Amino acid sequence: MNFLPLIEAKRDGRLLTGRFQEIITAFVAGQIPDYQMAAFLMAVYFRGLNRDEVRELTLAMRDSGDRLFFPPDHRPLVDKHSTGGVGDKVSLPLAPLLAALGFRVPMISGRGLGITGGTLDKLESIPGFSTALAAPRIVELVQSLGVVMAGQTDRMVPADKGLYALRDVTGTVPSISLITASILSKKLAEGLQALVLDVKFGVAAFMPDLAQATELAHAMVALGRECGVNTRAVLTNMDRPLGRAAGNWLEVKESVDCLQGRGPADLRELVLTLAAHLQVQTDLAPNLAAGRDRAEKCLASEAPLRKWEEMLTAQGARMAEFHELLELDHLAPVVSEVRAPHGGHVTKCDARVIGEVVRDLGGGRLTKTSVVDPAVGLDLMAAPGETISSGDLLCRVHATDQASASMAVERLAGEAWVIANDPGAPLPPLCAGVIES
Ligand code: URA
Repeated sequence: MNFLPLIEAKRDGRLLTGRFQEIITAFVAGQIPDYQMAAFLMAVYFRGLNRDEVRELTLAMRDSGDRLFFPPDHRPLVDKHSTGGVGDKVSLPLAPLLAALGFRVPMISGRGLGITGGTLDKLESIPGFSTALAAPRIVELVQSLGVVMAGQTDRMVPADKGLYALRDVTGTVPSISLITASILSKKLAEGLQALVLDVKFGVAAFMPDLAQATELAHAMVALGRECGVNTRAVLTNMDRPLGRAAGNWLEVKESVDCLQGRGPADLRELVLTLAAHLQVQTDLAPNLAAGRDRAEKCLASEAPLRKWEEMLTAQGARMAEFHELLELDHLAPVVSEVRAPHGGHVTKCDARVIGEVVRDLGGGRLTKTSVVDPAVGLDLMAAPGETISSGDLLCRVHATDQASASMAVERLAGEAWVIANDPGAPLPPLCAGVIES
């Protein structure tokens, strides 16, 4: 394929409607060199794609590899996707809750990169748990248990793998057209009926402000609906971390707390909200209040906790060992504390600083090939809105050695929290809006 005229066309702002199937087929077949595709992505970054172009690109990416097909069933096929955050472990309690509510949930998740954590990394801190499942096994587990949490197989949406790797090293990730195509191509390959998107905004999110997050949410919701998937987006604040723990194993512990009806209020709130939306989207509930009520009762019944255990067992987790680890206070060799230098009102806990510290402790990736340490991270984090006294705990640091613990403590003490004499303005809500069309 002679790709140069198409790069030039996009560079000059011309439409490429009708050409994306050919482009993606050639790229996946190795007929477009990376340097040309990188130039094309930069042209798309600056010129954008119109709605028809994004749809064509998305469908071509979806069709670049295997798709999941499920036998017809009365249980709606649903999933949730988050654009990524710090301490965002929502998928872990949400997936089994949805299965217990009567959905089928083929939750195909990703790994963390940079400061945002990834569901697969969190799950892989559970001994024996396998996230590498072939498509037939994914379908089998969804049909029998109602839920599976796995990584994309090598054969699913290979176009996204190649394009994302190039975007990551060419500064072209934050393009609304490319993010929309990347996320939706993967979700559409799951064959869903309904999808709820958690689109984050704030200091630790892809989209720093609400206006950009809203634009991304509108683009994804419109395209999802055009492609036959009932799609909604919830816009949530990522200026502060979600929950009290950030770091793979520590987040698994917090997720289990949530499934046991305990744990932080913001995590529980978001889990229940997303479950309520999916019930309304699929007519399992007449309105959000009824959906939320049903989700709360279901969580209290411990049916989701049993689903979680069934899912872990089916995916190879060594359950006796897992339960023993849950009883331990920590897995990391060193635990240090950050304490408040003075009393007052916590008005800020900076999610970006928290994310960077967890990544630097070894809990996240600087490059795609970095190996994550499941044990490290932060827990018992003080949250905005709390009143504290001098010397109170702001968080614990779980580290592999004293040197990395000390560096983390120093940075956190200097940059992560603001403790003021005045309580300040009321905290903005976790959920800033919902996009339905
Ligand atoms: N997540 C994805 O899967 N793709 C993007 O482009 C951005 C976030």
